[in-house]
Amino acid sequence: MKKQLLLLVTAVLLSFGVHAQVKSSETNVLVLIYSQGGGTYKMAKAIAEGIQEYPNTKATIKRVPSINPKEKLSAEVEKLAVATIDELANYDGIAFGSPVHFANISADMNYFFSQSIPFWTSRTLEGKPTTVFMSSGSGAGKEAAILSFWNILASHGMIIVPTGIMGTATLDKSVAQGNTPFGATSLTGSPGIRPSESELGVAKEQGKALARVASGLKNVPTTKSVKTTSTETKTIDVNKTLKDNKIVIPEAPKPVGNYVPYTISNHKVYINQVALKDGKIVNPGKVGANVTEEQAKEATYQTMLNVIAVLKEACGGDLNKVKQCVQLTGYFNTTPEYTQHAGLMNSASNLTALVFGENGKHARATIGAVSLPINSVVEIQAIFEIE
Ligand SMILES: Cc1cc2nc3c(=O)[nH]c(=O)nc-3n(C[C@H](O)[C@H](O)[C@H](O)COP(=O)(O)O)c2cc1C
Repeated sequence: MKKQLLLLVTAVLLSFGVHAQVKSSETNVLVLIYSQGGGTYKMAKAIAEGIQEYPNTKATIKRVPSINPKEKLSAEVEKLAVATIDELANYDGIAFGSPVHFANISADMNYFFSQSIPFWTSRTLEGKPTTVFMSSGSGAGKEAAILSFWNILASHGMIIVPTGIMGTATLDKSVAQGNTPFGATSLTGSPGIRPSESELGVAKEQGKALARVASGLKNVPTTKSVKTTSTETKTIDVNKTLKDNKIVIPEAPKPVGNYVPYTISNHKVYINQVALKDGKIVNPGKVGANVTEEQAKEATYQTMLNVIAVLKEACGGDLNKVKQCVQLTGYFNTTPEYTQHAGLMNSASNLTALVFGENGKHARATIGAVSLPINSVVEIQAIFEIE
């Protein structure tokens, strides 16, 4: 018994280490570039530096794939992780960088965006802060190129952060620089010796400005999530429902193994919970043996509360970000002949429907099990869609 307790405590402590890596409050900004010779990449590093100067903000530099896979990229650029269109949804803000090609953006970046139609129709990028920087040769057409990039981002409804006259006070004006009111650029010229210190300075300020807007808007509900009626605009407020129904969301249970309490992939949150309350299992055992149906329902209710507690963490504390409960699966520890799993699971389904209203309607499966972890009478697997 003592040995089991020791193992459990060790597992809890280990799980704290794993859990600590999930920093839901951190602002995540993607710096997404196409670059062949590395000029745009040098600007991207300055943008990322500026982003990370903003408190609690992380920058990740990635590249879009080349249209021509045989194209020779600079060694540094080649090593960058390649982004997929789907992952754009996962960031709080995105800085886009491209070389100026014929007073326009590069064909590779353009091709990447040609795959974004599903995001366009679903308004996925709407309201997400963004900014554009570029690397040019002589600078011919650099502003036209940024503005043509802006056309794409405006079509997605993104919030475009311009540079204005950011960083120009310290600009070396004795030579031409790539600063524009729209975004930083670099005039690499034929030797490719730029970016200059001045150009990098503007890029850094631009990165910081994007991080500020991304941090500010991170937890603000999107326009799409605020339901509009013909006469009034009304927000569905989960917190009010919880208060009105005197439902108290507990502390999210900590994992007791080498896993995290939730994962998020493509706006779906995956959660698994058992009937833990204050560190103990509610009504442990087997339905049809030592646990009554009423006790199993009580344990199921507690398990769903735990699921919602973890979901709240996954939403950065704001349950109004939940778009849909996609599916619930309830596993019940029962005797072999037991068949009334659906009735037990209703206490989880009813709670979900009460808390999330229309968005709480879900697909469902219920399954009988020979045994469940730490003798819980129930385990619930949940999938939610969030903003
Ligand atoms: C097809 C092509 C078209 C280009 N068009 C322009 C242009 O219109 N204006 C300009 O200033 N530079 C132009 N350049 C130069 C690039 O913008 C410049 O070399 C840039 O720094 C390359 O960025 P990278 O090193 O990230 O690939 C062009 C280069 C290529 C290959």
